[in-house]
Amino acid sequence: MTPLLLLLILTLLFLTYLLSPLLSRDPIPGPLHARLTSLVIKYHEFTATRTSYIHSLHLRYGPVVRVAPNEVVFASAAAVKEIYCSNGSGYDKTEWYDLFKVYDRRTMFTILGKQEHAKRKRVLADRYANSNIMKGGVMDGIKGRARRFREICERGGREAVDLYIILHAYAFDCVTLHLFHPHSANSLTDPKDSEVMLEVTFDSSLQNRLLSHYSPLLHRLLNSLLSSLLNLKPRETPLADSFVLNTAAETNVSPFTLLHRLHHDLPSSSPDMPQIDKAAECLDHMAAGIDTTGDALCFLIWELSQPSSLPYQRKLQEELRSAGENTPVEKLEYLDAVVMEGLRMFPAIPMSLPRYCPPGGRVIDGHEIPGGTIVSCQAYSVQRLEQGGVFEEPDRFLPERWLDGDEEKDRERRRCFFAFSQGGRGCIGKHLALAEMKCLLREVYSNFTTLPGLKMTEKDMEMADLLVSSRPAGQRCLVRFEKLES
Ligand code: HEM
Repeated sequence: MTPLLLLLILTLLFLTYLLSPLLSRDPIPGPLHARLTSLVIKYHEFTATRTSYIHSLHLRYGPVVRVAPNEVVFASAAAVKEIYCSNGSGYDKTEWYDLFKVYDRRTMFTILGKQEHAKRKRVLADRYANSNIMKGGVMDGIKGRARRFREICERGGREAVDLYIILHAYAFDCVTLHLFHPHSANSLTDPKDSEVMLEVTFDSSLQNRLLSHYSPLLHRLLNSLLSSLLNLKPRETPLADSFVLNTAAETNVSPFTLLHRLHHDLPSSSPDMPQIDKAAECLDHMAAGIDTTGDALCFLIWELSQPSSLPYQRKLQEELRSAGENTPVEKLEYLDAVVMEGLRMFPAIPMSLPRYCPPGGRVIDGHEIPGGTIVSCQAYSVQRLEQGGVFEEPDRFLPERWLDGDEEKDRERRRCFFAFSQGGRGCIGKHLALAEMKCLLREVYSNFTTLPGLKMTEKDMEMADLLVSSRPAGQRCLVRFEKLES
């Protein structure tokens, strides 16, 4: 490197440092390089380690940390409330969400501004209300799929079963039930549908999509090189695309489905949606419902299968077996505590959810933040820091913490529970996801004790970031099922 080039780079870094609006008002803790460049955080994005890197910064610098010249990440209930809940749905989303446009359309998830989002949500929210999910149509369908899942585990006999695959299949079949019944997928038993699920699940387009976001020009220049030499492929899901485009055109669907709402029940205040927007919403919800629920269950069952969790498995089995299968899942307290603790330790979307601090700036958790700064919280850290005693021993899987009977502490815990985000842009599929998780766990732990597969390594279950969600690094989760005596 010539001295002139070096001088130029140093001058640029120094100017970034001086011109950063975050510098003048309120120095935010963080590594020195974060004041000068976003290269380090980008490096962690490209290597799928952003979440754990940010968590390590929180452990070192505390609940507020600067990760780039224009980006700050928080890990506190106060910040969650301000960023995601103020005025109902919090601050606007950043262009990061452009990465998730579907058929080049903006869906509820990718709409950036509040007003437009609120309009779209009015159209879609009713089918995700708990009252709709708990109705016969959805619940019976979920229970049927949970039974199919149990039968597959049973057939495994003494051999370990790869739960990573079949949990994604289960989540795929459940979410398409809610979207399209009777045209839902049946990937637990039908190999053709399974191909669609595998296409969505084994996505390896992280680096390619990041490059297209950060540098469209470089991406255009290098695209074919990336694919051919480095195997960094763009996201391509032709099977899922045509499954959704064809199915979303069906009009003969059950009243509880999202598609029924879109075709026959739009609120009178909403104009008819173009067919491509209906399909885009459906594809988006389908994708949002596969990896999230599948991976949340995968990490949770893996944790429950560890020898240290055997006492929790026993308690769960006792509750489920004494309640019997006619007790509604939402009445099972210990099951609820297990699910909450699973989502606390292994939130399926552990990463920070970026928002713009509004013009004029705001005070977030006591810090003056200029308008235009990218601010966020990540569930992994909000739910794993001690938070003033809210989560004692945060790295221990401890379902009992949700049952300590202390109402004040419980309110605090729930303020820090960020797995589904919070506020008007929180997860619309939350009730569906919880119903799926609970029905499946009931089928499993009413009938089996689960144990880790012998061929698994620690690395297999390490968390690897995708774009917003994360998954087990090994993309496999071998578990053995030991039948309980009836
Ligand atoms: C355990 C399972 C799940 C978890 C942990 C989860 C988590 C989340 C989180 C954290 C967000 C906010 C994302 C952001 O702001 O960037 C979100 C949004 C969303 N989720 Fe989920 N999700 C789950 C399951 C589902 C399911 C089953 C569906 C649909 C069928 C779904 C559909 C959506 C949609 C459409 C949004 C966008 C909401 C909006 O912008 O208004 N999710 N989810």
